[in-house]
Amino acid sequence: MTDRPRRTGEAVARKPIIAGNWKMNLNHLEAIALVQKAHYHLREKDYDAVEVVVCPPFTSLRSVQTLIEGDRIPIALGAQSCHWEEKGAFTGEVSPAMLARLKCSYVIAGHSERRALFGETDEVVNRKAKTIIAHGMTPIVCVGERLEEREAGRTEEVVGAQVRGSLAGITREQLGAIVVAYEPVWAIGTGRTARPEDAGAVVGFIRGVVGEIGGTAAADSVRIQYGGSVTEGNVADIMAQHEIDGALVGGASLDAEKFALIVRYRD
Ligand code: PGA
Repeated sequence: MTDRPRRTGEAVARKPIIAGNWKMNLNHLEAIALVQKAHYHLREKDYDAVEVVVCPPFTSLRSVQTLIEGDRIPIALGAQSCHWEEKGAFTGEVSPAMLARLKCSYVIAGHSERRALFGETDEVVNRKAKTIIAHGMTPIVCVGERLEEREAGRTEEVVGAQVRGSLAGITREQLGAIVVAYEPVWAIGTGRTARPEDAGAVVGFIRGVVGEIGGTAAADSVRIQYGGSVTEGNVADIMAQHEIDGALVGGASLDAEKFALIVRYRD
């Protein structure tokens, strides 16, 4: 299993990545139970086909890490956020070095809830993305327009600015290895999913912006997820869009069986 995109001949095969964003849900005991159950429903070939990630709250990271290492469960560990400094007087914050030490492979940066509720700007997201990379982890950088922006026909303008701002100064090689999540704000937790072809079009647009910043190779290998009310019922149509390389799943990732069905979207 590899978390890096593989090159096959001329074309780049991007391994799909499905990540569960648990948000502020589940204590560490519930977290262990959820990972055990999800793993029970997954087969080796599912892990071969799809990279599976869970992003529990900070308080559950150590428990989940111990479980997946001890039982050799091929699920990658991710955190939902972090500070951009290594250490210091930042009461209540968690540093990327701490997450790297816990063998987190991924850290979500700039989720729309962080942007809307905790004032994270593109500049903050950019700092976080850079330190996450500097600590050997992969950022899942979230972007997405609000409903009024979509209705005003400003989706590309807004998303393009977020991509450029959040990824500024990241090298070409690094850009090709990160994950971007396109999450239209109006689709998150609402049960209202973007039409697969609309999501595919925005993801294609994002890939184009990555290409402008980092060149064709980076654009070809960066993995771009869709997020926003993904369920076991709609994931296959979303993943059928060739630009879309995976899903960032909130609500449905809290149910082990549903999450496993989402990972098994090819069945
Ligand atoms: P949702 O959340 O699947 O519950 O809409 C997605 C997200 O916020 O990442």
